[in-house]
Amino acid sequence: MKICVNSASGVEAVTKREIYKLLGIENLAAINGRIVFDGEIEEVALCNLYLRTANRVEIVVGEFAADNFDSLFDGIKDIEWEKYIPSDGKIIVNAKSQLSKIFAISATQSIVKKAICERLIGVYGGQLPETGARYKIEAAINKDFVTVTLDSSGEGLHRRGYRGLVGEAPLKETLASALIQLSVYNPDKRLVDLFCGSGTIPIEACLIAKNIPSGLYRDFDFAKWSAKNRELLLKLKEKAESEIKWEKEISISGFDIDEKQIRLARRHAKEAGVGDFIHFQRADVADFSSHYPYGIIISNPPYGERLSDRKEVEKLYKTYGQVYSSLKDWSAYTLTSVTDFEKLFGKKADKKRKLYNGKLECFYYSVMGAKPPKNE
Ligand SMILES: C[S@@+](CC[C@H](N)C(=O)[O-])C[C@H]1O[C@@H](n2cnc3c(N)ncnc32)[C@H](O)[C@@H]1O
Repeated sequence: MKICVNSASGVEAVTKREIYKLLGIENLAAINGRIVFDGEIEEVALCNLYLRTANRVEIVVGEFAADNFDSLFDGIKDIEWEKYIPSDGKIIVNAKSQLSKIFAISATQSIVKKAICERLIGVYGGQLPETGARYKIEAAINKDFVTVTLDSSGEGLHRRGYRGLVGEAPLKETLASALIQLSVYNPDKRLVDLFCGSGTIPIEACLIAKNIPSGLYRDFDFAKWSAKNRELLLKLKEKAESEIKWEKEISISGFDIDEKQIRLARRHAKEAGVGDFIHFQRADVADFSSHYPYGIIISNPPYGERLSDRKEVEKLYKTYGQVYSSLKDWSAYTLTSVTDFEKLFGKKADKKRKLYNGKLECFYYSVMGAKPPKNE
């Protein structure tokens, strides 16, 4: 079957690299954040369990041209829905359209659902009680071409299961993981988040360092579809658990000026099963120092979205830059929407990558420190 992994804008290259490492599939293309390849239910399960930067994993169940409701209805009804949905499946339909003659979303959703139900009633007979497992279906219409997908993830994959409480402007877990994977971090290096908030960056780094899959503590829709799928997921989780590197020595710390955030971060880390491995501490960025060389800062400082915050942010970024210059051979990676970051920080970035934090356009600035000698 055709599998579609959805990734966020700007991080597709990271997701492709993750797919390569997980499944060995090379030269994948990403079109509008969609990465498509062939696989079976095992690959669907693996992607859900392991891909740290993917938003969701879908199964492509149909593709056809349609520029009116009749052809849409026929195209949907032609799909062999009985191969995917049992007689009691709960069917949820979403639709989206761009640059197409069919553009009325709510009418599209109704027609798609009606066509699926007609097909299934034709096969199963009687009524469809819709009391069973959930089947989330999306009809995405682009330039009069319909792509129909079945969502195997359920909740978005950024929901790892460790973050119930929301902090101040927290990063999505998928984006936090992408920031780490876009850096030179490896588990032998020292990692610090100087503005850690609810702890997303340190926690995601710890999951990587200890080889804990991002989906280990959550469930997925595909596992509720059949006993066989449930068994498959349990087997993969068991194997993943046996491969966790609990003994791996790591150095990951998170600091924040707000005690409330630090309490939240500790709680999230505990929920993620990594509470004992991350050092969280209330501290002002101005007070940070380290005598160790070659550390890595990955941070998402306040952006000062309101005009009234601008002066404070200027001061904060200048302090951050001064603290960075006092560190020997460290690298600093910073995600911010502040466009004159480099000027305030006092250093030109070696790399500047456009990323979106939610809908907000940001840049991810990489300021690289010297490389350690080979044997360090
Ligand atoms: C955008 S939030 C970080 C969110 C975080 N990445 C997360 O996922 O929850 C910025 C954080 O910087 C902290 N902060 C503001 N001024 C600070 C300072 N002078 N020193 C350290 N932290 C500061 C705020 O308390 C806030 O939690």
